[in-house]
Amino acid sequence: MLNVDISRAEKFVSENELESMKKELSVAHDTLVGGSGAGSDFLGWLRLPEQIDTEEFSRIKKCAEKIKNDSDVLVVIGIGGSYLGARAAIEFIKGNMYNQKNSGCPEVYFVGNNLSTDYIKEVIEVIGDRDFSINVISKSGSTTEPAVAFRIFKELIEKKYGKDGAKSRIYATTDKSKGALKNLATNEGYETFVVPDNIGGRYSVLTAVGLLPMAVAGIDVDAALRGAYTAMKSLVGTKDYTNPAWVYAGIRNALYRKGKKIEILACFEPKFKYMAEWWKQLYGESEGKDNVGIFPASIELTADLHSMGQYIQQGERILMETFVSFGKPESDISVPENAEDFDGLNYLAGKNIAFVNENAYKGTAIAHEDGGVPNICIKLSGSDAENFGYMVYFFEFACGLSGYTLGVNPFDQPGVEAYKKNMFALLGKPGYEELLKEILKK
Ligand code: PA5
Repeated sequence: MLNVDISRAEKFVSENELESMKKELSVAHDTLVGGSGAGSDFLGWLRLPEQIDTEEFSRIKKCAEKIKNDSDVLVVIGIGGSYLGARAAIEFIKGNMYNQKNSGCPEVYFVGNNLSTDYIKEVIEVIGDRDFSINVISKSGSTTEPAVAFRIFKELIEKKYGKDGAKSRIYATTDKSKGALKNLATNEGYETFVVPDNIGGRYSVLTAVGLLPMAVAGIDVDAALRGAYTAMKSLVGTKDYTNPAWVYAGIRNALYRKGKKIEILACFEPKFKYMAEWWKQLYGESEGKDNVGIFPASIELTADLHSMGQYIQQGERILMETFVSFGKPESDISVPENAEDFDGLNYLAGKNIAFVNENAYKGTAIAHEDGGVPNICIKLSGSDAENFGYMVYFFEFACGLSGYTLGVNPFDQPGVEAYKKNMFALLGKPGYEELLKEILKK
C-alpha cells in the first residue's frame, strides 16, 4: 500500500551511515512502541486503530447522517491539529473542488484557523440563507481563533434557528471533562465528541476531530480506519529496513546530519496540498525544538517549478525533497490533436495528461538529484480513504521514530505558547498585566 524508495538519495550518504542509523532506529522503535520515552503519555494514537470507541464511532456516523439530511453546509471551527487533518482528508480523497461539485453531501467550510474578518465574512456570505450546522473542535476549549469564530457562528445559528433549534445543529469535539467548550456543551446540551487525553492535536485526525467532518463529506471512515489498522499491524511489528517508516526516518536523519536542514514535501497532484500542510504541522511541531529539527516545507507541482524551481535546482544545498505519488489518477484526459498545430504540441496529441505529468515528475526528480538535492519517493497505491488512513499512520509512526532519533520529545509543543502569551497581554486579557509591561518596554 505504501513504499519508500531512496535510490535517489543514497549517493548523498554512505552505506555505513545508513547502516549505523539502524541501531538508533532500533532504540527509537523500542522507545516508541514500549512507551518508555519522553512524551509517552501522548501515545494514544499508536494503538488507536484497534482501540476505537465503538459507541462514539457509531454516534459520529449517525450525526454525520443527520447533518447530511438537515444541512447544506457544515462549518468546521478549529485550528492546527483541530483543523488540518479533516481538511487534508476531504481534499485528498474528494478533490480540490469538493465544495463546488454538488456531491449530494454538505459543503464543508473551515473557519477559526485565522483572525481575518474578510475570510469570516466570505464564509457567512457563502452560507447565505442555506441550512447549516457547526462542528466546533478544540481540545483545550480556549484557543483564541476558534473561540472567536465560534462566538460569531453561534450567534448566527441561534438567530436563524432559535436557541433550541441551534442546539441540535452544534456538535462540539473537545476534552472529555474540562475546558470552556466542554462546560458550554454540557450546559447547552450539544452533542459532544471527545479528543482523547493521550492524543495531541497533530495526531488526532483519526479521532472524532477528523472523522466527523470526513463522514459528513461522504468519506468512508471505516476504510480510513482500516488503512490505519493495516499500517499499524505492519509498522509496529517490523524492526528493520523492510519497514518503510524506518527507511523514511533513517534517511531523513542521515541527510540532516549531512547538512540537509530543510525537507520539501512535493507532489504533482494539487489535491495533496492540505496533506502537505498537515504533514508540516506534524513534523514541524514534533521535531523543531531544543534548537534542532528538520524544517518542513512543501511545494505543489508542477506549479512551483515555475517559482521555487530555481532555488531548488541551484540555491543553497541545504535541501532534501520527498516526493509523494499515489498511483494512476481517477480521470482520463488526453491532449487534443490540432490540425494547425498552432502551439507545436501535436507531438503530445493523444497522450494522457497523466503521462505528461509522470514525465514531468521523472525529469524533475533527476534534475534535482543532479543539482544536489536528494530525493525520497513515497508511493501510495491510491488516493482513497484506505490509503489516506495508511498514510496518516505511516507519517505519524515515522515521525515518532524520527523525533526520538533526533533526540527530542516528538509529542510536546512548548514553543506554541510564546506568541499566545504575548497576544493575550497585548489584547488586555486579565492576568497578563505584568507581561504587557515587559512587552511595552521592548
Ligand atoms: O497540535 C496541537 O496541539 C495544536 O496545533 C492544537 O491542535 C491547536 O493549537 C488547537 O488547539 P485546541 O484544539 O486546544 O484548540
